[in-house]
Amino acid sequence: MPENHAQVEGGPKHVAIIMDGNGRWARKRGLPRLMGHRAGTENIRRIVHACVENDVRYLTLYAFSTENWNRPDSEVQGLLRILAEVIERETPELDREGVQIRHLGHMEGVPQSLQESINYAVSTTRHNSRLVLSVCFNYGGRDDIVRAVREMVAAGVTPEEITEESISSHLYTAGIPDPDLIVRTAGEMRLSNFLIWQAAYAEYYSTPTTWPDFDKDSLYEALAEYSRRTRKFGGILPEEHNEYNNGGAG
Ligand code: IPE
Ligand code: IPE
Ligand code: MG
Repeated sequence: MPENHAQVEGGPKHVAIIMDGNGRWARKRGLPRLMGHRAGTENIRRIVHACVENDVRYLTLYAFSTENWNRPDSEVQGLLRILAEVIERETPELDREGVQIRHLGHMEGVPQSLQESINYAVSTTRHNSRLVLSVCFNYGGRDDIVRAVREMVAAGVTPEEITEESISSHLYTAGIPDPDLIVRTAGEMRLSNFLIWQAAYAEYYSTPTTWPDFDKDSLYEALAEYSRRTRKFGGILPEEHNEYNNGGAG
């Protein structure tokens, strides 16, 4: 890694992160899982900074999935409490830095006070545009699609009006471009119901580093890896077109 973190050329505009491994981080240290979740909130600010420095315009963080309610009640309650604390603690500073906070997910089952905290963060920062920070809380990719379809049916959308664009415009991510890079910490190789529609052509990056240990250098490594990837979107490369034109047929 270079000492002065030079900007990575050709970087992603939208980075989405599956913040995993808080439990393993805690277990390795003989600490309760909730300590891992708390530690996992400390690096959010530095990752936001690193994104701003690298011209990332959209950062999406997977904080709590629709399946995470399956955890023991004490852990769920702890996670809800920690989220409320993080919102209170970080929103003023994020607002000063020009970060717009969005919430992706639904509010059913979410305690009233936490709903109010989320709404406060979203409304306070809604005019900011330096970076859009989307927090996926009570978010599931399948739930996202089910809700979009319900909304469209309720609005009387005709079969012809159902297109990739119209579906996208009914998802929680409406107005946000698809992620270019999806990072998963703690080594698993799965999406766990994260942005399953939006991730169709995202580049994937998985690192064994657990989320509380994921620092600026870890992010730069992910961005550098992204810049080495070749995205083809089903097509072929310009040089491959040339080969074709130079008698490559046959
Ligand atoms: C990610 O860490 C945080 C949430 C899913 C809320 P985990 O709690 O899943 O950590 P591991 O996977 O048990 O290590
Ligand atoms: C995905 O992590 C959800 C979040 C990071 C919020 P999980 O730890 O819940 O995923 P699985 O259970 O390992 O697939
Ligand atoms: Mg996990």
